[in-house]
Amino acid sequence: MEKIITFSNTFFGRKVLITGNTGFKGSWLSLWLLKAGAKVVGISDEIPTKPSLFEVAGIEKRITHYFEDVRNSDQIKEIILKEQPDFIFHLAAQAIVSLSYKDPLHTFSTNVMGTASVFNALRHLEKKCIAVFITSDKAYENVEWPWGYKETDHLGGKDIYSASKAAAENVIHSFYYSFTRHMDNIRVASARAGNVIGGGDWAADRIVPDCMRAWSKNEAVSIRSPKATRPWQHVLEPLSGYLRLAEFLWHDDKLNGESFNFGPPSEITLTVEEILWELSKHWKYEDSSDAYKITDNKEFHEAGLLKLNCDKALFHLKWSSNLRPHELLAFTGQWYYEFYKGNVDMYDYTLQQINEYESKAKERNLKWVK
Ligand SMILES: NC(=O)c1ccc[n+]([C@@H]2O[C@H](COP(=O)([O-])OP(=O)(O)OC[C@H]3O[C@@H](n4cnc5c(N)ncnc54)[C@H](O)[C@@H]3O)[C@@H](O)[C@H]2O)c1
Repeated sequence: MEKIITFSNTFFGRKVLITGNTGFKGSWLSLWLLKAGAKVVGISDEIPTKPSLFEVAGIEKRITHYFEDVRNSDQIKEIILKEQPDFIFHLAAQAIVSLSYKDPLHTFSTNVMGTASVFNALRHLEKKCIAVFITSDKAYENVEWPWGYKETDHLGGKDIYSASKAAAENVIHSFYYSFTRHMDNIRVASARAGNVIGGGDWAADRIVPDCMRAWSKNEAVSIRSPKATRPWQHVLEPLSGYLRLAEFLWHDDKLNGESFNFGPPSEITLTVEEILWELSKHWKYEDSSDAYKITDNKEFHEAGLLKLNCDKALFHLKWSSNLRPHELLAFTGQWYYEFYKGNVDMYDYTLQQINEYESKAKERNLKWVK
């Protein structure tokens, strides 16, 4: 096989601490970093779903893992000072919009104070450390305009989850200006991406996991808002952005304190129905009505279309997304299909998808891969 170098080998042999490593994105990020030769340390309060990619890919035995709540600031500081990481990716969050309506205080405390607790620990490190804080596209005040949000646009949210992510951005910004801006050893950035899909997500009230759970039992899934569009992307797309951003911060301080959007090209907006129909083909459905039923049942306010302008990532990081829509859906549909068939080792299969993702990036001359 052709040798591929990713992210200039920046993570090889380095210690990378990931909060939220038992979640959907955190598990993919752990596997990608292990593949890149990093030593991975994780902090999460629990394994949030059953099944989980964390368990089905046997991640716990390949990393150092701490079960800890990110809001426990003393314990978080103790772990970070003990582990002395070279990189931190902060992903731990209450990330489910519907849950934020059920428990707004828990969402605020986790997303806001959890971020403060991690940043507070970071500022006590005396060694070089790069931290990328993951917030969301929902951090932008959604004024429902048709063009993409830029990093300088207003933050804010009408719903709890969005507001908690906007508040997390304020925490990052204020800790940076108050504490680390003039520290030579600490460099930080925040990263904002939108809805991601891909194998191994079993979170509640997300359209793809809902489908996969139903299809695995030969049931049709009910969907509301079939014409709703989201800037869907594969989970590896923003992760490639986070890793690229960390690579740049490692090599110099030009982007220290900045925020970056990572999203698909703006012309790619698939409706929920288009997504489901394409995914269902990977499950060998021939008639869409066997796969999903449309019920128009909006229980809570959900923001309309929100697109990201990713020109800043293209300009500074030479980053753009990789997969075409049919590839995104093939990666996703096939992963779950293989999982539920039960014949393959999901660690190997997930790494195979990461290899394929890297090969496609190389064919397309993306700059993070050589
Ligand atoms: N999945 C998406 O479509 C999406 C879109 C935009 C932004 N994000 C953001 O990306 C990050 C990861 O999202 P995800 O989809 O992997 O979420 P997830 O729900 O799958 O995982 C969340 C992770 O955070 C951990 N966690 C939650 N509360 C915690 C606490 N108090 N202390 C310690 N750990 C805690 C969970 O155990 C889990 O490991 C989140 O910050 C989320 O807001 C996700």
